[in-house]
Amino acid sequence: MRRGAWSNRYAFYLATVGSAFSLGNLWRFPYVVDSNGGGAFVVTYILLCFIIGMPIVVGELMLGKLSRLSIISATDQISQQSAHAWVRKWKPWKWVGVSANLASIFLLSFYSVICGWVLFFLVQYLVHMFTGIPLADDLFNILMKNGWLQVGLMSVHLLITTIVVSRGLKQGIERLSTLIMPLFMALMIYLVFKSLSLPGTVDAMRFLFYPNFSYFTSETLLKVLGHVFFTLSVGMGAMVVFGSYLRDDTYVPRSGFKVTILDITISIFSGFLIFPIVFSANINGDYGPSLIFNTLSVFFNKMGLGNFFGLIFFICLYLAALGASIMLLETSVAHLIDSKRFKRNRASWSMIVFVFIAALPASLSSTVFKDMKFMDLSMLRLYDKVLVDYLLPVVCLGISLLVGFGLTKKQKENLFIREDEMDSENLYRNWHFLVRWLVPAVIILGFFSSIFY
Ligand code: PHE
Repeated sequence: MRRGAWSNRYAFYLATVGSAFSLGNLWRFPYVVDSNGGGAFVVTYILLCFIIGMPIVVGELMLGKLSRLSIISATDQISQQSAHAWVRKWKPWKWVGVSANLASIFLLSFYSVICGWVLFFLVQYLVHMFTGIPLADDLFNILMKNGWLQVGLMSVHLLITTIVVSRGLKQGIERLSTLIMPLFMALMIYLVFKSLSLPGTVDAMRFLFYPNFSYFTSETLLKVLGHVFFTLSVGMGAMVVFGSYLRDDTYVPRSGFKVTILDITISIFSGFLIFPIVFSANINGDYGPSLIFNTLSVFFNKMGLGNFFGLIFFICLYLAALGASIMLLETSVAHLIDSKRFKRNRASWSMIVFVFIAALPASLSSTVFKDMKFMDLSMLRLYDKVLVDYLLPVVCLGISLLVGFGLTKKQKENLFIREDEMDSENLYRNWHFLVRWLVPAVIILGFFSSIFY
């Protein structure tokens, strides 16, 4: 099946990075860095993005470009075409695809709760821009006490996402990301510039980049790995969908490299934005998922035209998060269209019902389910932990084995080795070593150390 390709390279990068650059960079990165001791986490994160995340990004894009299908159909096809009878019978690769799809639905369910929070701040800044009054310091706590408001916000977000997806991927994301990404980048540069002039900057830089490995516990490796997968959008089939829309002449390794570099840069930028505020305002304690909301309101309240900048920031953040949500829903919708012959409209609305049900406990985790804790974690944090610390590493282990062993040498070489690309044979050998051996080894090591130490 031939799919519509992206109209130009620029649109592809913006959309791919647009889905990668989102809440993972701006909301999750600062708080996991904060809760895991700073520099050691950041340094490991950068390293693992290159040696673990990037090879999988390339592998997923490759899977999509080869098959022009969504992840379940692509992995099913690979199982069926295998030379080994047991693979054709048990279809292990297809199960990797199915788990990736489940992970995307699971992520969308708690992601939409956070998108609801972003929507709430967006509306607050809009209202306060007209009244000229700064936002209340405890606004986030007020939101946390109102579970049904969170359900309402999450529902509005899911509704918007479904409307965009049901009308088609290309019109939806291309237009959105081409418009919003450059604006968001420019705004980030301006805000980072402002934040770096705060008195806490030196301490913030030390915290961010001085690798004190005494904070590195036996669980940290798995946490870093999970975050790398989350932020690079791998392990959920999203990059496979992107790959399936790639133009024939696109060189997949280069795309993977650019996506990784941009994603790291944006995460570091969000560290530059958040941590000087944290250290200047003496915001102590483990804020967890509320970190950016609490710090940014302090920042915007002190800034000239703060409500205006707050509004633009939250509009951009919301649109970036919407882009990511669209991608997450698209992975399942593409599957229903590819293999179950659903119409786009029907596929989108049926999927969203499951997402909504799964999102309910997460939306109500600070109210109705407040006392329901597991491993001392609220529902929302439990969702995050199960997905990011366990499910994503398992799926990515599967994907690396699938790409390393399931695809034929010829399939991989055809996409990698090109005469017009300098040193592509060497590049292929290195990538292949990483995806086949190093990625699985590091993920297994992560699991071992978190279980046995
Ligand atoms: N990478 C996105 C983020 O950082 C999350 C995401 C995962 C989006 C998978 C789309 C697909 O927020």
